[in-house]
This record gives sequence, structure tokens and C-alpha cells, in this order.
Amino acid sequence: MVEGVRCMDPTIKLILLLIFFRIACASTIEKKFEHCERVVKDWALSSLHQGINNDKHTLQDLLFFLHVPRTGGRSYYHCFLKKLYPSSQECPRSYDKLRFDPSKTKCRLLATHDDYSMMEKLPKERTSVVTIVRNPVDRVLSSYEFSVEVAARFLVHPDLASATKMSKRVRAKTNGVSTLDIWPWKYLVPWMRGDLFTRRDARRQKGSSEAKSDSPYDMEDMLMPLKEFVDDPIVQDIVHNGATFQIAGLTNNSYLAEAHEIRHCVQEHKSLGQHVLHVAKKRLDAMLYVGLTAEHKESAMMFANVVGAQVISQLKDANFSVDTLADNQSGNISSSHLDSELESNVDQNNSTLDEKATVQDESEAKRENMTVAELIEVYEGCISSLLKTQSRRRFASLKRISPANFSKEARRSISDEVLQQIRTLNHLDMELFEYAQEIFTMRHVRLMGNIDMKDGSEGKFDRLHVFELWKIPSLVMLFILLLVLFVFANARRRVSKVKVRNKY
Ligand SMILES: *[C@@H]1O[C@H](CO)[C@@H](O)[C@H](O)[C@H]1NC(C)=O
Ligand SMILES: *[C@@H]1O[C@H](CO)[C@@H](O)[C@H](O)[C@H]1NC(C)=O
Ligand SMILES: *[C@@H]1O[C@H](CO)[C@@H](O)[C@H](O)[C@H]1NC(C)=O
Ligand SMILES: *[C@@H]1O[C@H](CO)[C@@H](O)[C@H](O)[C@H]1NC(C)=O
Ligand SMILES: *[C@@H]1O[C@H](CO)[C@@H](O)[C@H](O)[C@H]1NC(C)=O
Ligand SMILES: *[C@@H]1O[C@H](CO)[C@@H](O)[C@H](O)[C@H]1NC(C)=O
Ligand SMILES: *[C@@H]1O[C@H](CO)[C@@H](O)[C@H](O)[C@H]1NC(C)=O
Ligand SMILES: *[C@@H]1O[C@H](CO)[C@@H](O)[C@H](O)[C@H]1NC(C)=O
Repeated sequence: MVEGVRCMDPTIKLILLLIFFRIACASTIEKKFEHCERVVKDWALSSLHQGINNDKHTLQDLLFFLHVPRTGGRSYYHCFLKKLYPSSQECPRSYDKLRFDPSKTKCRLLATHDDYSMMEKLPKERTSVVTIVRNPVDRVLSSYEFSVEVAARFLVHPDLASATKMSKRVRAKTNGVSTLDIWPWKYLVPWMRGDLFTRRDARRQKGSSEAKSDSPYDMEDMLMPLKEFVDDPIVQDIVHNGATFQIAGLTNNSYLAEAHEIRHCVQEHKSLGQHVLHVAKKRLDAMLYVGLTAEHKESAMMFANVVGAQVISQLKDANFSVDTLADNQSGNISSSHLDSELESNVDQNNSTLDEKATVQDESEAKRENMTVAELIEVYEGCISSLLKTQSRRRFASLKRISPANFSKEARRSISDEVLQQIRTLNHLDMELFEYAQEIFTMRHVRLMGNIDMKDGSEGKFDRLHVFELWKIPSLVMLFILLLVLFVFANARRRVSKVKVRNKY
């Protein structure tokens, strides 16, 4: 036999060698998978066992707004949360994780792009989490458009070097905090900015510049085509499935040491994504509020009734507002400052900060006596001015890459192939989004039921107390369930008696 192997045809030897190699390879791949599976499963198990507060319908001491980028969270932040909480109660530098230590401050509101792993630093049982979820395709398109929009503001500068220098100066002026410090824009914007300058330089060298395509999503001469963006490793790492990873606490920005290994495992072995998705779903279940970007009217109404109403009643409780106001430095450089910077002066000397500050102060005084109806009114006024400001900025910025211009109509020019690619790369987010829609529908129906009940009862219930009525439907459900069980048990007993009788 040994003799036979030795005299074997060299090609057969080669084939045997190859087979051996394949098996060896396959086994290391398998080992890697097993390792990954263990890491991911261990994490999922321990995450699911972590105690969260037991009453998800009641607002706790600290409100953690887990702001998934490009879900419209900024309007909730400016037009609800900033109207509800005095800035002294906002955790300092909410959007800037670098220097934030929540254990040192007694704050009540934390709004941030940081992921769920932030909870490790917060008093878990005294924290309520809220978030907004968006259709993943829209979220990816919006991430692309926003990256381009912010990056294009730098095109006022003659070259990349001067743009970079200027942004450093602006950062120094705003106490070192800018868009470029905020995840994920701190990666996406400089990358896109470099790309825009490269393309502009290339256009200038070529001389003539006639756009080959009509679609702003595929205008190679002017900007990075959408397809290129979607396939880039940076975007793979921080945009795709971003909502799932953020709610699971596994983003590229996570506080959890093993987050990066887990994320890479999931990116490599698609089947492991289900564990992450499961954790994210459970967390959505436990949140005080889950909004949907596209259902903005219903989402805002629900936010006002569920979150707003409870914040107001907490503020009315005198004990609460006084003794938790410990720090007096946080207003100085709170995120309002930095957030308006995010929107505006990346490239200008001409600050619009003041405009914002005055808008804020108006409503500061009557906060405690606000009703939900008034809150909604304030929100609507605020949102329309916010949208105006936003579209003005967008116009000014996109002008610099004309004829490229993003709009709803222009989105129709995106090829099905690219859209399908986005869906595939965001398969976890697609599922999470569907789940969030279910949660939203369920809670919305329940809330509407409560409000109708309240309206029918001659104003006996204040709008503020709508949330307390939440308990009623569940009591009714419990009663029905008990009844069914009782009937069922009785029926079984009768059946078994019949059987017993038949035996003898
Ligand atoms: C996060 O992603 C960006 C972009 O891909 C990368 O530059 C950065 O190093 C990543 N950070 C970590 C901690 O992996
Ligand atoms: C407010 O504080 C006082 C004493 O500190 C306490 O007796 C009272 O019960 C508190 N009220 C509420 C609503 O917590
Ligand atoms: C506010 O800060 C100043 C110094 O920064 C300090 O002396 C003062 O005690 C603080 N006030 C409160 C109420 O903490
Ligand atoms: C507030 O900011 C100013 C300058 O930005 C600084 O000089 C001052 O010390 C800060 N105050 C506190 C209490 O941090
Ligand atoms: C900022 O303002 C100064 C003078 O006030 C001006 O020289 C400079 O060009 C301006 N920079 C930009 C980017 O507008
Ligand atoms: C500065 O602001 C004024 C009015 O707010 C505006 O007319 C002007 O164009 C702005 N300048 C720059 C450089 O953006
Ligand atoms: C809030 O309302 C109460 C009565 O409901 C009133 O006595 C109080 O003055 C009001 N406070 C403010 C700041 O309007
Ligand atoms: C982009 O298109 C919108 C309409 O969709 C238009 O209102 C806006 O002025 C355009 N912006 C630029 C810079 O051309």
C-alpha cells in the first residue's frame, strides 16, 4: 500500500494534496466559526439576562435618547426634549462621548449617537430608553446625502489643506467639539470631503466638465456615486445594519471591549446575525418609546403623550427638580452648542448660534405648567422653523456641487440593483424595522384607545394622565385570560372524570 502511494501518478498525488489542503482549510474555517459562534452566543446570553427596569411604561429618573443617525431624531431633541428639560438637567456633552462620565453628574436627559453599551455607565434600573427607527433604505440614502451635504460646505475653500485648517479653527472656537468629533460623522465627513476635493481637482485639470449622468446618485465627475458609497468598507462598518448594532450596543463606537470581535464575527458569518437581532428586538420591547421616522405625525403625538406627559409631571414634582440640579457647569458647553455647530458653521465665520439660543429661552419659563396639547403646539412651531433652516443650509451646500441635487424625485433614478444591494447589506435592519413597526402599531392602537376613553369621560382625566390608563387594557386582557384558563381547566376536569368513569 505504502509502495503504491510512492509510485502514484504525480497528478493523483497533487489531487490528494489539494484535497488534504481543502480539508485542513475547511477545518480552520470551521474552528473560526465555532469560536465566533461561542463569542456571539455568550454575549447574547449575558445581554438578555441583564436586568432592565421592570416597568417599561413609567419614565425613570434618567431619559436616554438613543439617537440612531438619520432617523429624524434631531427634531425630537430640539423640539421636544430641549423644550421639556432645562439645559441644566441635560447630561453634559451628550453627543460627545470623549469626555463624558455620567457617574459624576446628576443629569436627567442624555441624547446621543452612542450605542446601547452606554447603559453600562448609567444607573440601569433608573434609566428609560427611547429611540426612533427608520426604513433602512431611506436611512442609508440619507446618510449618503448628509455626508455629501456636510462635506460640500468645505468646498468654499481653495483646497483640502485650507479646509482642514479652517475646521480645526472652528473646533478650537467651540471648545474643541464639532461634527468631526461626533460618531459616525467624524469618519464619514472627512472621507467624503477628501473625495469631493479629489474630484474637483480632477475636473479642473481636465478643463471641461460635462456631467455624463442626470442622476445625482451617479455623477462620478462631481461626487462619489451612491453605489461606490454603499460598497465601501467604511460604510459597511458604520452604516449598514447600523440600527441593529447600535441598539445591540455593538457599533464601531461601543464601550464594550468585545464589541468589535462580535461585530466582525457577525459580518463574516451571516447566520450569527440572528443572535444580535434577537437582543436588539428584546431591547426595543423594553423601551419606553419606539418611534418611526416615516410616521412622523403619529410618532410625535405618541412621544408627547407617553414621554412628554411624564416629563412634565416629573418636573411638577418639586422635590425632583430641585435636588437633582447639582451641576452648574453643564449648561456651558452642553450639546445644544455643539449640535447647532453640527448643522451650521463648519465652513463659515458667520455663526448662527445666537438665533438658536433665543428660540430656546422663550419656552424655558413656562415649562412646568405645560400641557401635552401645548407641548405639541410648541413642537409644531419649532419643527417648521427647524425644517426651514435645514433646507436653507442644504440648498447653500448642494449649490457647491451643482448640478448634483438630492430630492425625493431624484431618488427614483436610483437603480433597482443598488437598492437591492442596500437591502441585502442591511438584512438585520430590515427585520428590525419590521419588528419596530409591529411594536409601534400595537402601542399606537393602545394609546388611541386610551385617549378616546379619556375624551368620552367628560375631561375627567387630564391629558397628562393618559399614560396611567395604559394599565387598564392589560388588566382586561389578564381577566379574559384567567377566564379562559378557568373554563379550560374545568372542561379538562370534566373530560378526565368521564374517562375515569369509562374505565370502570
Ligand atoms: C471605526 O470605523 C472607522 C471607519 O471604518 C475606522 O476608521 C475606525 O478605526 C473604526 N474604529 C474602531 C474602534 O474600530
Ligand atoms: C418630598 O420630600 C419630602 C421630604 O424630603 C418628603 O416628605 C415628601 O414625601 C417628598 N415628596 C415626594 C412627592 O416625593
Ligand atoms: C457652581 O460652580 C461654582 C464654580 O464653578 C461653585 O463655586 C459653586 O459652588 C457651584 N454651585 C453649585 C450650586 O453647585
Ligand atoms: C464656561 O466656558 C468658559 C469659556 O468657554 C470658561 O472660561 C468657563 O470656565 C466655563 N465655566 C465652567 C463653569 O465650566
Ligand atoms: C471670515 O471672515 C474674515 C474677515 O472677517 C475673512 O477675511 C475671511 O475670508 C472669512 N472666511 C470665510 C471662510 O468666510
Ligand atoms: C453671514 O450672515 C448674513 C446674515 O445672517 C448673510 O447675509 C451673509 O451672507 C453671511 N455670510 C456668510 C459668509 O455666510
Ligand atoms: C402654574 O399653574 C399654577 C396653577 O395651576 C399657578 O398657580 C402657577 O402660578 C403657574 N406657574 C407658572 C410659572 O405659570
Ligand atoms: C434642488 O432641488 C429642489 C427641488 O427638488 C430645489 O428646490 C432646490 O432649489 C434645488 N437646489 C439646488 C442647489 O439647485
